[in-house]
Amino acid sequence: MRTHLCAHLDPSFIDAEVELCGWAQRRRDHGGVIFIDLRDRSGLVQVVIDPDRPAAFEIAESVRNEFVLRIVGKVRLRPEGTINPELPTGEVEVLAVELEVLNVCDPLPFQVDEEDATEAVRLRYRYLDLRGARMQENIRLRHRVIRAIRTYLDEREFVEIETPLLTRSTPEGARDYLVPSRTYPGQFFALPQSPQLFKQLLMVSGFERYYQIARCFRDEDLRADRQPEFTQLDVELSFVDETVVMAMMEEMVRGLFRSVLSVDLPDPFPRITYAEAMQRFGSDRPDLRMGMELIEVSDLVGDSEFKVFSKPANSDDCRVAALCVPGGSALTRQQIDAYTEFAKESGAAGLAYIKVNEMDIGREGLQSPIVKFLSDVALSGILSRTEASAGDLIFFGADDTTVVNDALGALRVRIGHDLDLLQNEWCPLWVSDFPLVARDNQTGAWQSLHHPFTAPQEADWGALTDAPGSVRSRAYDMVLNGTELGGGSIRIHRPDIQVRVFELLGIDAEEARLKFGFLLDGLRYGAPPHGGIAFGIDRIVAMMTGSPSIRDVIAFPKTQRASCLLTEAPGNVDATQLQELGIRLLGAHPDVAHSEN
Ligand code: AMO
Ligand code: AMP
Repeated sequence: MRTHLCAHLDPSFIDAEVELCGWAQRRRDHGGVIFIDLRDRSGLVQVVIDPDRPAAFEIAESVRNEFVLRIVGKVRLRPEGTINPELPTGEVEVLAVELEVLNVCDPLPFQVDEEDATEAVRLRYRYLDLRGARMQENIRLRHRVIRAIRTYLDEREFVEIETPLLTRSTPEGARDYLVPSRTYPGQFFALPQSPQLFKQLLMVSGFERYYQIARCFRDEDLRADRQPEFTQLDVELSFVDETVVMAMMEEMVRGLFRSVLSVDLPDPFPRITYAEAMQRFGSDRPDLRMGMELIEVSDLVGDSEFKVFSKPANSDDCRVAALCVPGGSALTRQQIDAYTEFAKESGAAGLAYIKVNEMDIGREGLQSPIVKFLSDVALSGILSRTEASAGDLIFFGADDTTVVNDALGALRVRIGHDLDLLQNEWCPLWVSDFPLVARDNQTGAWQSLHHPFTAPQEADWGALTDAPGSVRSRAYDMVLNGTELGGGSIRIHRPDIQVRVFELLGIDAEEARLKFGFLLDGLRYGAPPHGGIAFGIDRIVAMMTGSPSIRDVIAFPKTQRASCLLTEAPGNVDATQLQELGIRLLGAHPDVAHSEN
């Protein structure tokens, strides 16, 4: 139906006769002449319809935004003074000879590319939202990312293998989405939280190098970087240790940023242990775009008369840490109060501070509710260790280590953004040597930090029974600018170790057999040592496109309340469908309107 794409036209086409198809982005009447910005997948070109073509002109007068058009016309230079340097085709226009309406368009709920349309209306009419330039770019960039990933892995002999969506529960820490079985009334499939168990079995099968662009389903509390269904790049390899997996995956991510964004990421990525990440940044996904590390001062305030400091300084599993904010002495009382409230949200009891107004004049130069409690030795120790200079402000957290890390870790990132302290644009790193398990706050039971198939470090096998909390795992996370992009581990390939880890997690032999019997069986039939990783593709693309939410890089996402405003899923089903499934609902269920939040 066409000879050219709109945005390909430039002065080299002057006098060429072209046929174009697309949407009317905008129509303007200019004293007898009508202009239509015609848009196709390539971009825009301006079409001019002159009254001396009465047939075309009459049609042009009826054109409204987003009508679908076909035009035949001649390319010409725009007259002096009407050149648009913002537009790639801004030097030319097409003088229409014929104009045909291929389809009309109802009045729009919002204009394509309108910036202040609410997300609810954008999701309800997602096909219109996707027409806009930003979403077009996001979805096309997503395609390029996935293509680059496939190319990289194909070149290294990885095999793309699909694993089932109707399956059994895979424990990744979220609730399952369940699908009732008609053939086995009362029984349910679970949609996979990840292909974890299948990819391990594919290693038992001898594929050695597997990957999949895999849809995963998790019924969990949603946030900007979480969706109930999302896409992983899932990878597994045999006969490797963690250094091989990490080296290969960071090479892939570097290549991705190079080819898609022309950005050079560091080679190699920095690697730090979980313990060091918590000590220095209060977080296992540190944002390295800013300095401002947590500085240990427990030893400096241990004998202070200030109980708020001296008690945690002398207790196990507690710490006193400082955060030195460059230029922070300019913060107002209200700002400090707001940060104190923010720290309290993470469980902190308070947020002590010292404003360093002037250096080298002793206490006079310091403004603070707590300096009176601190000795000269402690004060000078704090100033020198935090490398504070005049104009800075030092915040303190004193509490259980987890509370201090949570509060100061979050404060560090918040202040970094508030005060514009972010430096490089892209700061990736690996975090490794995670604890294998941690106690559940409520039940006190041991829980996997990653998943139950993650291998414990061999040096710590002995501690599995006596001191489980001290056992380190062979897990690693790739972190970029404070976001976890991916995580993986070397797996347990010996059934006896897997059984010991299940026991630690309170999964007895019977339950293990019931839930994971097929994996335990598989491990007994010649399972090679293996390991892998999974990346959140939505998160990678959201970061690459600078999108605030992964909803902006998924064609048809769900709302924060896990519903689809376009199709109004989930929806009610017929009584007969329920009957076939052997399901009876508890009480009546009113029609629920799907909402955005
Ligand atoms: P994990 O649970 O860490 O590991 O998931 C891997 C990556 O998937 C992304 N991700 C999500 N993205 C969007 N919405 C969600 N709800 C969501 N949940 C997770 C994150 C995360 O880093 N089987 C293991 C991997 C392995 O061990 O190989 C797994 O699924 O970017
Ligand atoms: P108080 O003696 O409770 O008035 O506290 C004196 C200062 O110490 C105030 O600025 C509090 O915000 C701060 N503070 C209290 N508890 C803590 C804590 N656990 N960690 C850090 N600062 C605290």
